[in-house]
Amino acid sequence: MLGKIISFEGIEGTGKSTQIQYLRTFLSSKDIDSVTFREPGNTYIGEQIRHLLQHDPDACNMCAETELLLFEASRAQLVRELILPTIYNSIWVICDRFFDSSTAYQGAARKLFEKIVHQLNHFAIGECVPDLTILLDIDVDLALKRLQGRKEQKDRIENEPTEFFRRVREKYLQLAAEEPARFFTVDATLPVETIAEKICTHVQKRFAL
Ligand SMILES: Nc1ncnc2c1ncn2[C@@H]1O[C@H](COP(=O)(O)OP(=O)(O)O)[C@@H](O)[C@H]1O
Ligand SMILES: [Mg+2]
Repeated sequence: MLGKIISFEGIEGTGKSTQIQYLRTFLSSKDIDSVTFREPGNTYIGEQIRHLLQHDPDACNMCAETELLLFEASRAQLVRELILPTIYNSIWVICDRFFDSSTAYQGAARKLFEKIVHQLNHFAIGECVPDLTILLDIDVDLALKRLQGRKEQKDRIENEPTEFFRRVREKYLQLAAEEPARFFTVDATLPVETIAEKICTHVQKRFAL
Protein backbone atom coordinates (compact mmCIF):
# COMPACT_ATOMS: atom_id res chain seq x y z
CA MET A 1 0.00 0.00 0.00
CA LEU A 2 1.15 3.55 -0.71
CA GLY A 3 2.46 5.55 2.23
CA LYS A 4 0.37 8.56 3.23
CA ILE A 5 1.45 12.18 2.93
CA ILE A 6 0.75 14.50 5.87
CA SER A 7 1.77 18.15 5.69
CA PHE A 8 2.10 20.57 8.60
CA GLU A 9 1.36 24.24 8.04
CA GLY A 10 1.28 27.36 10.18
CA ILE A 11 3.37 30.47 10.66
CA GLU A 12 6.80 30.19 12.30
CA GLY A 13 6.69 29.38 15.98
CA THR A 14 3.38 27.52 15.94
CA GLY A 15 5.02 24.23 16.92
CA LYS A 16 5.23 22.36 13.61
CA SER A 17 8.64 20.82 14.29
CA THR A 18 7.62 19.95 17.85
CA GLN A 19 4.40 18.22 16.76
CA ILE A 20 6.02 16.35 13.89
CA GLN A 21 8.23 14.55 16.41
CA TYR A 22 5.18 13.49 18.44
CA LEU A 23 3.35 12.27 15.35
CA ARG A 24 6.32 10.22 14.16
CA THR A 25 6.61 8.57 17.56
CA PHE A 26 2.90 7.76 17.42
CA LEU A 27 3.19 6.34 13.90
CA SER A 28 6.14 4.21 14.86
CA SER A 29 4.09 2.81 17.79
CA LYS A 30 1.70 1.62 15.07
CA ASP A 31 4.62 0.08 13.13
CA ILE A 32 4.44 2.76 10.47
CA ASP A 33 7.76 4.02 9.13
CA SER A 34 7.84 7.72 8.31
CA VAL A 35 10.28 10.32 7.08
CA THR A 36 10.16 14.08 7.42
CA PHE A 37 10.97 16.57 4.71
CA ARG A 38 11.19 20.30 5.28
CA GLU A 39 10.60 22.95 2.69
CA PRO A 40 12.58 24.22 0.93
CA GLY A 41 15.35 21.65 0.76
CA ASN A 42 16.15 17.95 1.28
CA THR A 43 17.48 17.24 -2.21
CA TYR A 44 20.84 18.56 -3.40
CA ILE A 45 19.04 21.04 -5.66
CA GLY A 46 16.60 21.96 -2.91
CA GLU A 47 19.34 22.68 -0.38
CA GLN A 48 21.10 25.01 -2.82
CA ILE A 49 17.78 26.78 -3.30
CA ARG A 50 17.22 26.88 0.47
CA HIS A 51 20.48 28.74 0.93
CA LEU A 52 19.50 31.28 -1.72
CA LEU A 53 16.00 31.71 -0.29
CA GLN A 54 16.91 31.95 3.36
CA HIS A 55 20.43 32.88 4.30
CA ASP A 56 22.52 34.10 1.37
CA PRO A 57 23.20 37.80 2.09
CA ASP A 58 23.84 38.39 -1.62
CA ALA A 59 20.27 37.27 -2.39
CA CYS A 60 18.60 39.84 -0.15
CA ASN A 61 17.30 41.75 -3.19
CA MET A 62 15.27 38.74 -4.37
CA CYS A 63 11.98 39.74 -5.99
CA ALA A 64 8.72 38.01 -5.05
CA GLU A 65 8.38 36.31 -8.45
CA THR A 66 11.83 34.72 -8.13
CA GLU A 67 11.04 33.64 -4.58
CA LEU A 68 7.90 31.83 -5.76
CA LEU A 69 9.68 30.10 -8.63
CA LEU A 70 12.52 28.96 -6.40
CA PHE A 71 10.14 27.45 -3.85
CA GLU A 72 8.31 25.66 -6.66
CA ALA A 73 11.57 24.39 -8.17
CA SER A 74 12.65 22.97 -4.82
CA ARG A 75 9.18 21.41 -4.39
CA ALA A 76 9.11 19.84 -7.87
CA GLN A 77 12.45 18.16 -7.20
CA LEU A 78 11.42 17.04 -3.71
CA VAL A 79 8.26 15.37 -5.03
CA ARG A 80 9.97 13.41 -7.78
CA GLU A 81 13.29 12.63 -6.13
CA LEU A 82 12.08 11.81 -2.61
CA ILE A 83 8.36 11.94 -1.85
CA LEU A 84 7.10 9.65 -4.60
CA PRO A 85 9.79 6.96 -4.13
CA THR A 86 9.14 7.07 -0.37
CA ILE A 87 5.38 6.55 -0.54
CA TYR A 88 5.81 3.86 -3.24
CA ASN A 89 7.93 2.12 -0.60
CA SER A 90 4.96 2.20 1.84
CA ILE A 91 6.71 4.77 4.03
CA TRP A 92 4.70 7.77 5.22
CA VAL A 93 5.91 11.26 4.41
CA ILE A 94 5.55 14.10 6.88
CA CYS A 95 6.12 17.49 5.26
CA ASP A 96 7.20 20.40 7.42
CA ARG A 97 5.44 22.86 5.08
CA PHE A 98 4.31 22.05 1.55
CA PHE A 99 2.44 23.80 -1.25
CA ASP A 100 -0.09 25.59 1.00
CA SER A 101 2.86 27.62 2.28
CA SER A 102 3.30 29.13 -1.18
CA THR A 103 -0.41 29.96 -1.38
CA ALA A 104 -0.19 31.73 1.98
CA TYR A 105 3.28 33.32 1.85
CA GLN A 106 3.95 34.04 -1.82
CA GLY A 107 0.28 34.39 -2.79
CA ALA A 108 -1.50 36.13 0.07
CA ALA A 109 1.37 37.76 1.96
CA ARG A 110 3.54 38.79 -1.02
CA LYS A 111 0.38 39.49 -3.00
CA LEU A 112 1.36 37.58 -6.13
CA PHE A 113 -1.45 36.67 -8.51
CA GLU A 114 -3.36 33.85 -6.79
CA LYS A 115 -4.17 31.95 -9.97
CA ILE A 116 -0.50 31.79 -10.99
CA VAL A 117 0.52 30.52 -7.55
CA HIS A 118 -2.20 27.88 -7.75
CA GLN A 119 -1.08 26.74 -11.20
CA LEU A 120 2.59 26.66 -10.26
CA ASN A 121 1.80 24.71 -7.09
CA HIS A 122 0.01 22.05 -9.10
CA PHE A 123 2.69 22.01 -11.78
CA ALA A 124 5.27 21.35 -9.04
CA ILE A 125 3.39 18.68 -7.06
CA GLY A 126 1.52 16.88 -9.83
CA GLU A 127 -0.76 14.29 -8.20
CA CYS A 128 1.08 14.54 -4.91
CA VAL A 129 -1.62 16.29 -2.84
CA PRO A 130 -1.30 15.51 0.90
CA ASP A 131 -3.83 13.07 2.33
CA LEU A 132 -4.04 15.30 5.38
CA THR A 133 -2.85 18.82 6.20
CA ILE A 134 -2.52 19.84 9.82
CA LEU A 135 -2.81 23.57 10.38
CA LEU A 136 -1.43 24.86 13.65
CA ASP A 137 -3.18 28.14 14.26
CA ILE A 138 -2.04 30.84 16.63
CA ASP A 139 -2.22 34.56 17.19
CA VAL A 140 0.66 36.15 15.26
CA ASP A 141 2.03 38.17 18.19
CA LEU A 142 2.14 35.07 20.37
CA ALA A 143 4.00 33.06 17.72
CA LEU A 144 6.55 35.83 17.22
CA LYS A 145 7.06 36.01 20.99
CA ARG A 146 7.80 32.27 21.09
CA LEU A 147 10.45 32.69 18.45
CA GLN A 148 12.33 35.24 20.53
CA GLY A 149 13.50 32.31 22.65
CA ARG A 150 15.12 30.65 19.65
CA LYS A 151 18.86 30.65 19.13
CA GLU A 152 19.04 30.51 15.33
CA GLN A 153 19.21 33.73 13.37
CA LYS A 154 16.03 34.72 11.58
CA ASP A 155 15.96 33.95 7.87
CA ARG A 156 15.04 36.41 5.11
CA ILE A 157 11.29 35.72 5.27
CA GLU A 158 11.14 35.57 9.08
CA ASN A 159 12.34 39.17 9.09
CA GLU A 160 9.13 40.40 7.47
CA PRO A 161 6.86 42.72 9.52
CA THR A 162 3.99 41.41 11.68
CA GLU A 163 1.43 42.46 9.07
CA PHE A 164 2.95 39.99 6.60
CA PHE A 165 2.33 37.08 9.01
CA ARG A 166 -1.23 38.26 9.67
CA ARG A 167 -1.95 37.86 5.96
CA VAL A 168 -0.35 34.39 6.03
CA ARG A 169 -2.48 33.32 9.00
CA GLU A 170 -5.69 34.62 7.45
CA LYS A 171 -4.98 32.76 4.21
CA TYR A 172 -4.29 29.52 6.04
CA LEU A 173 -7.61 29.80 7.88
CA GLN A 174 -9.38 30.49 4.60
CA LEU A 175 -7.76 27.46 2.93
CA ALA A 176 -8.77 25.25 5.85
CA ALA A 177 -12.36 26.48 5.61
CA GLU A 178 -12.41 25.83 1.85
CA GLU A 179 -11.05 22.29 2.13
CA PRO A 180 -12.38 20.79 5.37
CA ALA A 181 -11.83 17.23 4.13
CA ARG A 182 -8.07 17.75 3.81
CA PHE A 183 -7.38 20.19 6.66
CA PHE A 184 -7.36 19.58 10.40
CA THR A 185 -6.93 22.83 12.31
CA VAL A 186 -5.62 22.82 15.87
CA ASP A 187 -5.39 25.65 18.38
CA ALA A 188 -1.62 25.98 18.75
CA THR A 189 -1.87 27.87 22.06
CA LEU A 190 -2.80 24.64 23.87
CA PRO A 191 -0.11 22.72 25.77
CA VAL A 192 2.22 20.67 23.56
CA GLU A 193 0.90 17.29 24.81
CA THR A 194 -2.74 18.30 24.32
CA ILE A 195 -2.08 19.29 20.72
CA ALA A 196 -0.17 16.07 20.10
CA GLU A 197 -3.06 14.03 21.47
CA LYS A 198 -5.57 15.84 19.25
CA ILE A 199 -3.41 15.27 16.18
CA CYS A 200 -2.72 11.59 16.92
CA THR A 201 -6.39 10.90 17.64
CA HIS A 202 -7.37 12.55 14.38
CA VAL A 203 -4.73 10.62 12.41
CA GLN A 204 -5.79 7.36 14.03
CA LYS A 205 -9.42 7.93 13.05
CA ARG A 206 -8.72 9.41 9.64
CA PHE A 207 -6.54 6.48 8.53
CA ALA A 208 -8.25 3.79 10.63
CA LEU A 209 -5.01 2.83 12.44
N1 LIG B 1 2.06 24.24 22.35
C1 LIG B 1 3.11 24.99 22.69
N2 LIG B 1 3.05 25.82 23.75
C2 LIG B 1 4.12 26.59 24.09
N3 LIG B 1 5.29 26.60 23.42
C3 LIG B 1 5.41 25.80 22.36
C4 LIG B 1 4.34 24.95 21.92
N4 LIG B 1 4.74 24.27 20.83
C5 LIG B 1 6.01 24.67 20.58
N5 LIG B 1 6.42 25.58 21.50
C6 LIG B 1 7.71 26.28 21.55
O1 LIG B 1 7.64 27.29 20.55
C7 LIG B 1 8.86 27.38 19.83
C8 LIG B 1 8.60 27.09 18.34
O2 LIG B 1 8.26 25.72 18.15
P1 LIG B 1 8.63 24.95 16.81
O3 LIG B 1 8.15 23.55 16.97
O4 LIG B 1 10.06 25.15 16.48
O5 LIG B 1 7.70 25.75 15.79
P2 LIG B 1 7.77 25.81 14.20
O6 LIG B 1 8.47 24.58 13.74
O7 LIG B 1 6.33 25.86 13.78
O8 LIG B 1 8.47 27.09 13.88
C9 LIG B 1 9.80 26.38 20.47
O9 LIG B 1 10.57 27.07 21.42
C10 LIG B 1 8.88 25.39 21.14
O10 LIG B 1 9.46 24.76 22.25
MG1 LIG C 1 10.12 24.33 12.47
